[in-house]
Parts: sequence; structure tokens; C-alpha cells
Amino acid sequence: MNSSYQKYRSFQPIAKPNRRWPDRRIERAPIWCSVDLRDGNQALINPMNLQEKLEMFRLLCEIGVKEIEVGFPSASETEYEILRTLIEGGYIPDDVTVQVLVQAREHLIRRTFEAIEGAKNVIFHFYNSTSALQRRVVFRSDMEGIVEIAAQGARLIKQLGDAARARTGVNLRYEYSPESYMGTEPENALWVCRRVMEELGASAEDKVILNLPSTVENCLPSQFADLIEDFCDRLPNRAAAIISLHPHNDRGTATATAELGLLAGADRLEGTLFGNGERTGNCDMVNVAMNMFTQGVDPRLDFSDIGRVRAFYERVTKLPVHARHPYAGDLVFTAFSGSHQDAINKGHLWMREQKGDYWEIPYLPLDPADVGRQYEPVVRINSQSGKGGAAFVMEQGFGYRLPKAMHPEFGAAVKAYCDAAGREITPDEVLGIFKREYSEYQGKLTLLSHRFVEIEDPNEESYVHFEGKVLRDGGAVVPIAGDGNGPINAACNALNQLGLEGYRFVDYFEHAVGAGADATGVAYIQVQAPSGKMRFGVGQSPNINTAAVLGVLCAVNRDLGGE
Ligand code: KIV
Ligand code: ZN
Repeated sequence: MNSSYQKYRSFQPIAKPNRRWPDRRIERAPIWCSVDLRDGNQALINPMNLQEKLEMFRLLCEIGVKEIEVGFPSASETEYEILRTLIEGGYIPDDVTVQVLVQAREHLIRRTFEAIEGAKNVIFHFYNSTSALQRRVVFRSDMEGIVEIAAQGARLIKQLGDAARARTGVNLRYEYSPESYMGTEPENALWVCRRVMEELGASAEDKVILNLPSTVENCLPSQFADLIEDFCDRLPNRAAAIISLHPHNDRGTATATAELGLLAGADRLEGTLFGNGERTGNCDMVNVAMNMFTQGVDPRLDFSDIGRVRAFYERVTKLPVHARHPYAGDLVFTAFSGSHQDAINKGHLWMREQKGDYWEIPYLPLDPADVGRQYEPVVRINSQSGKGGAAFVMEQGFGYRLPKAMHPEFGAAVKAYCDAAGREITPDEVLGIFKREYSEYQGKLTLLSHRFVEIEDPNEESYVHFEGKVLRDGGAVVPIAGDGNGPINAACNALNQLGLEGYRFVDYFEHAVGAGADATGVAYIQVQAPSGKMRFGVGQSPNINTAAVLGVLCAVNRDLGGE
């Protein structure tokens, strides 16, 4: 037994009677702010170079992010450089605001004002640590001292900001973060934020962003939501503030923290692509945005080509996106279990039949096409896959619509192959089984040549005459001929001449595969063998009548071959 857990203290939630957030719904996107270039970048083993940062900035703009924290310009030359390059290179679209971070310290604030010179839209983001733990362990200061640091910083920022606004006309806004808010007593968080708002002259026309970070995630998302609702309720002049969240993911619940925080009244969310950031990362914007999307809410971020976003992210961060990462991982649109595959198959059929407005496919909460993913890899086949899984792969991957009655027979052939291989098999292998078992099956009877003649008899009903030559057991060539009211009937009657009278035609299904000049007809024929056993055969030919005859021969051959 490991008793080390005893050295941890549990989070003390606030009493929150009559909480309102559980009854709310997320009905619109928050104001998104990306911190990929700052919080994300500072947590990389190999931080992005200038070129990569510029590419990241461009990608974030393309996705639709309108507020982008580009760095900590007073912290280092490279942080300064990216901002200057963006401004001087004219890379910042008019509707995008760059955000710069600085500690609430005079010389850093002054240097940061130099860095933003020439930018059109800027959020000046300053912070100091406010939590009880940081006060005790790091600053050894009481709350009064902490509030004073924030107030002094705010005063200087207001003074320099007013001057910059007057001189350059910059659209300058302010953001304050009581860093480690989640460990700050609610009264103290309100105290410091109120002072900052006063110093900055916040108003409904000139709102201040109050960013309430879960610098280190330490509680249940519901407990955090209580804090946020309480904060919003008790903040004087709430209309003069934009409440922003900045969840980190130490407990693995940053997405839920963000979502419940939005329900509790927050207006804005800071996060990163795929959750990159210090330790366990920041809140994953892709996850939160796509969660909204799958609830029918426009997230106002575009992840319709998630593969491109992911490939870029992996290149510049050198961090892989996990195979099971929501919406983006390699395996998130796969189903290994047979019952899942069957249900997905039925879901696709249902959608085709109903032509409804809503996505209704079990086990697939999102249409993979909505993030630029493909249907083909949705179902992977292993020995656990159900009968519908292989048929699904044949349809989605290769355009063969196997009749339902054929699924068990084909599924059994695929299962036997998987059992022998002892591994998952690829869609191409599934196609290979189909060809070997059906469309290219080599049996005792081979049709060498044939023709159909439609007989128009003015005195009797018209009929079809079939004649052909069949190679039997690789030896004798047997001519056959027969008449019938249709091509299949005529061919079956002709085949009877080979001594195959005991076979009874049961059902027939056909469709085209491919398109244009490459299109061929495929016919699925079900026959009952003299033993009573049902057999399927498949024929494929540009001529659908020929496909049907080949299908009959295939079914008979498979039976004679003991398949
Ligand atoms: O996590 C955090 O608290 C931060 C602040 C600087 C906002 O990144
Ligand atoms: Zn952070």
C-alpha cells in the first residue's frame, strides 16, 4: 500500500447554493485566444524558430482565431523579434489582435510598450501571482502587497497606454491575470481584479479582460464553475469586464473546466492547438471547438482540414498527436468491434434512406468528412469484426454493395483469413478475399465464349436464346444452349446441359462499379445447391447480362469446389 496520498490536501470548494450554470447550455462560441506562440512554445523542448512561428501565426489566422498571444517580448530577444517581424512585415490581418504578455514590473512594461509600436490592435496582458501558496512560498508577501504590485502595474500601463493611444491611435486593450487564480481565495481574487479595473478605468465601452487561469488544475470542473459563477456575480461593474479562462490540464479535465466555466459565465477562452503547453498542457482549443460543433453550435474556428493542422502542429512542436486524441487521432474514426461495425453500416444505410437533416450514425459522433477525414479507414477488420464490417469496407472502399443475405457468407471467409493471419487486415486484403472467393474464383467450369440472342416472335412471347462453350475440368469443351424469358433464365437452362439440374436460382442483385468508360456491372447471384445449401456467386463484366451468367457459374463452381 502506498500511503503517500496522505501528504496531499483536498481542494476546499466554495459553498454555492442555487448555482445556475448546470441549467445552461453552450449556445455560442467564446472569444478564442490562442496561446500557442507563448504558453505552448515556452513548453517545447525545441521552441519554434522565427519561420515556424510566422507559419503558426498564419495558420491560426486561417483557422479563424482573432486574438493571438505572440509572446513575452520583454523576456528575450527572440520573443521581441517575432512581434517586430509580424508588425514590420505587415503579417497581421486588420481583424486580428496580437496579445503580448508581461509581468507587472516597471522595466518590463516599458520594454513591452516599445515592442508593440506600430501594431494596429493590441491586447496588453499583464499578470502577477496571487494564490495563497505562491504568496507564502514564493513571494513571502501578504495579499496587500500582491494587490499593490498589480495596482502599480495597472497604473503605469494605463499611463503609457493612454499616451500610446493618443500618439499612434493604436486599438489597445488590457488584460490582467491573477496568475494561479484557482488557488486564490475568492475574496482576494475579487479584490485584486477590482483594483486593477479601477486603475485601468474599465468601463462598458473600454472593457478589461480578466483572465482567471487554472495555472495548475487542482479541482473538479464543477467546483471551478462554482468559482467562476461566484466571481461573475460578485464582481462590481461586471459589464466592464470580459471574463476569460486559461485552463491547464493537470487533472486531465481542462476541456471540461473550460466548458463548465463558459456555462458559469465566462466570455473568452485561452488555449492551444491539441493542448500543447506547460506540463500536461493548456486547454485544447480543437477539442472544445469540435465539442461545440458536434452539439450543433458553430465554434467559429475552422477545423475542416484537421489533418493539415495536425501535420503542421507535429512538424513545428515535434510532439505527436495521440492516436486516440479526440477528433484528430489516427484511430478516432475506426471501429474494431463487430457490433460497432454493424451499427455503423446500418447507420450509413439509414442516412441514405432517410435523407434527414441530422447525423445519425451510432459510434460515430462526427461525420469524418467534416474534419477532412475519409470513410475508408473508418472500419478496420480483424477476427472480432462482425459480418457487416467486411461488407462495409467493400462498399466504402471499393464500391461493391454486397446484398445483405451475402454478408454472413463473406464475413465467414474474412474471419477465416483473419484467424489464419492472426492480425488486423487491410481493406486491400478484404478486396483480395472477395476476388479469390467470388469475382475471380477459379472452378471446374470456365465460360469460354457465349452470346445472347433476343428472339422477337410476332406470334408468341419474345424470349432470350443463350449459347456458349464451357471448358469442363480443364479438359473437354462442352457447347451449351438454352432459352428463357430473360438472360439468366436462358443461361440457367443452358447450364442444365452440364448435368446441373439440381441447382435452383434464388435471387439476383446487380449494380455498376466505377464510373464512365471504366464502369463495369457486378451481379450477385444466390443459388440453392442440390444439397439444399445456399451459395453466392459474383460475376463482373461491362455487360450486365454476362456478369449475371458469370455469377451463376461462380456460385455453382463454389459449390462444386466445396466452398
Ligand atoms: O497559466 C498561467 O497562469 C499563465 C498566465 C501567465 C496567464 O500562463
Ligand atoms: Zn498558462
